[in-house]
Amino acid sequence: MNVKQQLENMIAEAKEQVLIVKSIHELNEFKSKYLGKKGSFSEIAKMMKDLPNDEKPVFGKLTNEAKQAINEYINNQRVIIEEAIINEKLMKETIDVTLPGKEFGIGQTHLLTQIKEEIEDLFIGMGYQVMEGPEVEIDEYNFEKLNLPKDHPARDMQDTFYITDETLLRTHTSPVQVRTMLDNSEKGPIKIICPGKVYRRDDDDATHSHQFMQIEGLVVDEKTSMADLKGTLLEVAKKMFGSNRDIRLRPSYFPFTEPSVEVDVSCANCNGKGCNICKHTGWIEILGAGMVNDKVLEASGYDSKKYQGFAFGMGVERIAMLKYGINDIRMFYLNDLRFNKQFTNE
Ligand code: DAH
Repeated sequence: MNVKQQLENMIAEAKEQVLIVKSIHELNEFKSKYLGKKGSFSEIAKMMKDLPNDEKPVFGKLTNEAKQAINEYINNQRVIIEEAIINEKLMKETIDVTLPGKEFGIGQTHLLTQIKEEIEDLFIGMGYQVMEGPEVEIDEYNFEKLNLPKDHPARDMQDTFYITDETLLRTHTSPVQVRTMLDNSEKGPIKIICPGKVYRRDDDDATHSHQFMQIEGLVVDEKTSMADLKGTLLEVAKKMFGSNRDIRLRPSYFPFTEPSVEVDVSCANCNGKGCNICKHTGWIEILGAGMVNDKVLEASGYDSKKYQGFAFGMGVERIAMLKYGINDIRMFYLNDLRFNKQFTNE
């Protein structure tokens, strides 16, 4: 068999065999079998030296053509294999875009937070600052400086979670009044609300919870009066219970205010005519308030001859319960989504 034929056979064989190769690894082996150092062409090259000189160029040309041809088959097969690999990967990783998506349970604002934020918005609109204080409070701020001396009945161990003799879980947000007045180095005007959690040693039932939320308000200025207090609280009542609501003030007692009042809102259910919800009085109590007691101003360094103030404190749960007809305070803390989801704020 002459060389030409041998080369032609080799090309034909390679053309056929390359098609069987299915991986890049095998293809590399295939390549070295023909074109590698110890491959078929090295064998053929050895024959070159025995040829007469005039045949050498023809021989060289033929070998090169054969190499080129085989190389081309190999490259073509490489493209085919690579495409097959990509196609297989695509098949495996196919995403069915028509499948229904996973539902992410996006949360919503808790009803108590919604009410808190609504009230904050109202007061920010009236020029108030929102302040916060610690839930672990000292006795001096929670009681003493609010004119609740050591033997006052409201300080009974029954009502307060004491941590040490002098530290406790605040029983109301009123200590933030004290903190704000003490912090005000100029002893100038103050206009704040303070929302937050408070704690009482109560047994939990439908109307009592050992933890609940309050929003405190304090205004201190050179000319403040009960009329300002009443006008402010009327705004709160209208915002929370509707623009037709009215309020009334009843005399009451708090150690930190003098005079003190309890504030009722006209019943939104019966429009003041009397029904079950308002116990047939037409009115529902919503908060406590009053003019800041001189002793409280003085205890925090304010000149009570120059300054007066008014203050108020409301329970957020109570407002929510009245507004939405919720009859068990524990609902706010059970985190039952069937309850929570009813109050969307969108
Ligand atoms: N701190 C009172 C309570 O927890 C509520 C209160 C009443 C706050 C009258 C006040 C106020 O600021 O003036 O029952």
